[in-house]
Amino acid sequence: MPLEQGTASEHVAEGRARYVAPGVVTPELVVAQAEGARITDVDGRSYIDFAGGIGCQNTGHRHPAVVEAIKEQADRYLHQGFFVGMYEPYVEVCKRLADLSACSGREQRSLLVNAGAEAVENAVKIARVATGRPAVVVFDYAFHGRTLLAMTMTSKVVPYKRGFGPFAPEVYRVPAPYPYRGATSDDAIAALEHLFKADVDPATVACVVLEPVQGEGGFIVMPPDYPARLQEICRKHGIVYVDDEVQSGVGRTGQMWAIEHYDGVEPDLLVSGKSLGGGLPLAAVTGRAELMDAVPSGGLGGTFGGNPLSCAAAIAVLDVVADRDFLARARELGENLRSRLEGMAKNHEGIGEVRGLGPMLALEFVAREPSRAKAVLSAAFERGLVLLSCGLYGNVIRLLPPLTLTDAEADEGLSILEEALVAAGSAD
Ligand SMILES: Cc1ncc(COP(=O)(O)O)c(C=O)c1O
Repeated sequence: MPLEQGTASEHVAEGRARYVAPGVVTPELVVAQAEGARITDVDGRSYIDFAGGIGCQNTGHRHPAVVEAIKEQADRYLHQGFFVGMYEPYVEVCKRLADLSACSGREQRSLLVNAGAEAVENAVKIARVATGRPAVVVFDYAFHGRTLLAMTMTSKVVPYKRGFGPFAPEVYRVPAPYPYRGATSDDAIAALEHLFKADVDPATVACVVLEPVQGEGGFIVMPPDYPARLQEICRKHGIVYVDDEVQSGVGRTGQMWAIEHYDGVEPDLLVSGKSLGGGLPLAAVTGRAELMDAVPSGGLGGTFGGNPLSCAAAIAVLDVVADRDFLARARELGENLRSRLEGMAKNHEGIGEVRGLGPMLALEFVAREPSRAKAVLSAAFERGLVLLSCGLYGNVIRLLPPLTLTDAEADEGLSILEEALVAAGSAD
């Protein structure tokens, strides 16, 4: 079809095919406008958004306070480079992260960077300097990003690792609990103890890095006892406990940080990102002063880390999310979504489990292959719902809607999801 006769979406897709590296995966959706929990495409079709740019829109697309903060900041100054010209918004974000921190220790400090992977890598750097040790322990089903060390720490070969080696050294992997597939906390603790006997001396381990709800790996929620048991082992061996909250943080589970759902757990370092910047790139490492102070001046940073616009947006985001009413509403939303999903699990064969923490919810198909989830996503998209899958086997459908979703929007989205389940049929 000649270009002039195609839809606006087709024009963009043609340009994408011609000029954009194919390694960047793209869907059919071509966005023209987004507001709250709705996206309009360039051909005027409207969608309910259950993806939130992969969990980056907990406060909704174009939250008015975020947009206002960005505009005000844009009128004053843009990039400076924090090591060329300091600015208040950077310091203010770090202050708020200190006030909201779930980490151990009274005095908290933060480092601001551009993306989750960069924050994870910096957490490892800080842990290594603070402990003088090289090794890193990570888990099955983990996702920590796509840069060399973060990719090494990630637990999925295709598409994240195949062909991209050699990988970073001194990264060790053990199973994490996955109750639905039979891996208990006891199994995971036994595997860690075995690792320390068989493969790596715990006295050489700088840190363990764990997502309290494993995101890309399948929305696998750590059982109530596991983070505390892991923390106890870390403390026994002087290992830094890094809590990766890039996907589960900033209100996603109905608490500021998912780790707050776990009694008695205070990680040493907390990594945040995604929704922190309200739609602009920002990620952070937060932790107690003794750890953060271990790296000497100049050892941390990056040209754009803590960009003024991103910081201005983050201050507005943290104001919104820290509000008790926002978090209470997020929990209420989670309960509503969960009960509808559980209903779907009863009515549709082959859904093995509905799981999640607060409104960070997913359903896993019994069959460990991606075809059914793919068919549901595509049927949902045709009907006006943007939805994502995840999981090592691509057989998990996850919900990451803006937490500002109204009940009517939630109903509309869930009804489309149910229709999509019917349309996709039972592939088991
Ligand atoms: C838990 C977790 N850590 C790290 C990352 C990497 O973040 P980014 O894509 O911003 O580098 C992600 C991204 O999905 C994530 O979910």
